[in-house]
Amino acid sequence: MPDIEDATNIPPPWWHSAAIYQVYPRSFQDTDGDGIGDLEGIRQRLPYLAGLGIDAVWISPFYPSPMADFGYDVADYCGVDPIFGTLDDFDALVAEAHRLGLRIILDFVPNHTSERHPWFAESRTGRTGSRRDWYIWRDPAPDGGPPNNWLSHFGGSAWEYDAVSGQYYYHAYLREQPDLNWRNPAVRAAMLEALRFWLQRGVDGFRVDVIWHLMKDAEFRDDPPNPAWRPGRPAIERHLPVHSTDQPEVRDVIAEMRATLQAFGDKLLIGEIYLPMERLVAYYGEGLSGVHLPFNFQLIAAPWDARHLAGLIEAYERALPRGAWPNWVLGNHDRSRIASRVGMAQARVAGMLLLTLRGTPTLYYGDELGMADVAIPPAAVQDPWEKNEPGIGVGRDPVRTPMRWTDEPNAGFTTGTPWLPIGGARAMNVAAETADPGSMLSLYRRLLMLRRATPALALGTYEGIRADGDILAFRRRHPDGDVLVVLNLGHHAASLALPAGSCTVLLSTRLDREGEEPGGALHLRPDDGLICRLA
Ligand code: NOJ
Ligand code: MG
Repeated sequence: MPDIEDATNIPPPWWHSAAIYQVYPRSFQDTDGDGIGDLEGIRQRLPYLAGLGIDAVWISPFYPSPMADFGYDVADYCGVDPIFGTLDDFDALVAEAHRLGLRIILDFVPNHTSERHPWFAESRTGRTGSRRDWYIWRDPAPDGGPPNNWLSHFGGSAWEYDAVSGQYYYHAYLREQPDLNWRNPAVRAAMLEALRFWLQRGVDGFRVDVIWHLMKDAEFRDDPPNPAWRPGRPAIERHLPVHSTDQPEVRDVIAEMRATLQAFGDKLLIGEIYLPMERLVAYYGEGLSGVHLPFNFQLIAAPWDARHLAGLIEAYERALPRGAWPNWVLGNHDRSRIASRVGMAQARVAGMLLLTLRGTPTLYYGDELGMADVAIPPAAVQDPWEKNEPGIGVGRDPVRTPMRWTDEPNAGFTTGTPWLPIGGARAMNVAAETADPGSMLSLYRRLLMLRRATPALALGTYEGIRADGDILAFRRRHPDGDVLVVLNLGHHAASLALPAGSCTVLLSTRLDREGEEPGGALHLRPDDGLICRLA
């Protein structure tokens, strides 16, 4: 239900009006010539991010890691991998970010560690080993096979046999990523301590990796088959993960994380959650005791159709618990980029949608340039998922290619050999697009600035106006003035009859139209979008 922010005089928390920008550190900026981005590179690029108009930077994992899953296999929760730099580099990054008015959000990966984490080394020494119950060990099934039918996200059984003890350990992702046992209070205490370690260093929040996975069925019942699965789809989709994920006990864990953050003030807790909408919004928790923002990925999977999008926006608005703040995501390091999903012309419209919907937007690095998925030759594949299930389109390397800064060789990303091919058009880079007032980057800057300057866009209520044909139109209401957003999701001209009175165009996706429009109708060119101030 729409939420009137100023019903009370308490100012909304900073993250209601913030725009978040995701950096994949391997691919942002390399400063030591090893072809892999680093923390010093991010620090050097903070002025770019401040100038873009975002408010918070979420940095994917940079902790010590064997990199089996490129940092999502953590070997030490309280350090920096030497590939990315040092703790001093991290402190310098936070200090510089704060000086520029930017917040820093870390990626917390609590579901699993690396198999090379010292905890797992102890755990796997045998059945009576210390820290045995820090991980999930089970006896074989009567036939000697895995304890149940749970599947790994990256292909095959989620159980790995360990000859030392004759038991299996559970890994929802790679076998190099054993799942922690969150039913063990010692695990909880150690992991909350890791949160405190970073909070004490000044971070402003966390994005929690696969938070809906943390608790598993206490009885380890088999997951039922998914009747919709078809060959060619990822193997993980063969089952409905009703027992292996999304258990009610996860609420207590999240409440403990919230309490840990609470002690440090106005910190933000985001949960990565891929679930249907009703299950997703449950993660706001009773009385909003859950995560502040359960990531809303609906725009990533949605067909690019006005009626469909309007339907999902309205269903989401209706499903939100009282007082819950919405959020929207257009892309991330796991999913095909928006420019590849909808094409370059509509990527502009999508950017306008992301930055005008009610709720906190999260941008993925490079989308502001129009970067598209880059085809990776088989010999250059890095992603373990693609290696396990080749050729069916699960690979994530195409969306993780280096940020394009200049038209120099390697796009100014590195002086060495980039860890993934650069790809993309030479003219698509920060320097060239900064100089071009009609570029995608100029559009993103204008959108972010307008959002900051316009309370209706940052905090106003949402009201659907029209969704048919290719037109998606909605109004954001705020006591300081209402704004109308009209998007043409198609490649043909279209128009919208205007409510009585004239309106003033504040911004068009093509960046070439501003000023007062006569009443009657608003005419949109193909692939156009307009933000208007209503009289
Ligand atoms: C979700 C992350 O976004 C993804 O990149 C990673 O592979 C899995 N979690 C496992 O940590
Ligand atoms: Mg480097």
